[in-house]
Amino acid sequence: MANLLVTGGAGFIGGNFVHYWADRHPDDTVIVLDSLTYAGNRSTIENVKQAELTVGDVRDTSLVETLLRERNVSTIVHFAAESHVDRSISGPDAFIDTNILGTNSLLKAARTVWLDEGSGRQHRFHHISTDEVYGSLGPKDAAFSETHQYQPNSPYSASKASSDHLVRAYHHTFGLEVTTTNCSNNYGPYQYPEKLIPLFLLNALHGRNLPIYGDGMNVRDWLHVEDHCRGIEACLDNGRPGETYNIGGGEELPNMAVIDSICSEVDRAFQEIDGLAMRYPDAPAAKGRATSELKTFIIEIAVTRSTKQRPGANSAMSPTTTLKAA
Ligand SMILES: NC(=O)c1ccc[n+]([C@@H]2O[C@H](COP(=O)([O-])OP(=O)(O)OC[C@H]3O[C@@H](n4cnc5c(N)ncnc54)[C@H](O)[C@@H]3O)[C@@H](O)[C@H]2O)c1
Repeated sequence: MANLLVTGGAGFIGGNFVHYWADRHPDDTVIVLDSLTYAGNRSTIENVKQAELTVGDVRDTSLVETLLRERNVSTIVHFAAESHVDRSISGPDAFIDTNILGTNSLLKAARTVWLDEGSGRQHRFHHISTDEVYGSLGPKDAAFSETHQYQPNSPYSASKASSDHLVRAYHHTFGLEVTTTNCSNNYGPYQYPEKLIPLFLLNALHGRNLPIYGDGMNVRDWLHVEDHCRGIEACLDNGRPGETYNIGGGEELPNMAVIDSICSEVDRAFQEIDGLAMRYPDAPAAKGRATSELKTFIIEIAVTRSTKQRPGANSAMSPTTTLKAA
């Protein structure tokens, strides 16, 4: 029986983790700390009996200290972040505030309660990070490894890289028992529809364009969120303090392949499921046409950086002026 503090537990991956953990550890209490930004939704976890939501900010160090002290928390799993690359390009400040200062605030609170106050409590601070700290993959590149050089390309990945370094430093400097996992692109339930898969699915159902930046050949590895949760649990059980572990799905795909399979799955669903055409009359598939006709190539006419690929290529919003090519 343990008390976990899960930050960002009303968001996509954090919310899935709360469900995953509660199902497998019914005697544990999961204290969720989430400030409920646009990406957080209390309904994601409201049917989880062992979950207790505190609406608050990870930057509120004294609130975190109180939760750690009064609820006898022995494990922090830190998901809370600003997580959307394109938003980090249009407004980096929130990413610096939450991802860097927020992580520092949690680390400070953990150090105070777990180390300085001499609780002697066995503890673990587990930090959730991204493989985007390593940069981008070309079509022929090997998968990232834990020793890959950090080469963040966006304010989002730079803020996550910075938080990774802080977590590591608290281990080496103060002896905090930390682990970090860097995972690839997650997909699954409860994802906010600004990310590629939920956004394109909704667009396909409502007959809206599917915007493709560049040639759509930007390669990412895709990881189902439940597999990610399983990896985090394995790391909590067996990970060595001070270590980092990559978690991937072994499914490296160019964005175009993901988009093509969304199109063909939507077409198939309209053929097989009665009533879909009535429910989504604007979908091309409702009129017997191919969803792929919604694919729209976007040509960027403002060059914003010198990397091979735009960091957020094929998430929803473009930070640059765009020209519709098809
Ligand atoms: N989604 C992915 O594919 C992916 C891939 C790699 C790594 N990650 C990392 O996983 C973690 C979770 O990502 P996600 O996709 O679930 O994000 P998300 O945007 O869906 O959820 C983030 C959650 O954090 C909360 N939050 C934001 N700022 C906060 C603050 N200052 N204090 C307290 N709560 C705050 C939000 O309300 C939200 O519930 C992030 O650290 C992200 O960097 C995500």
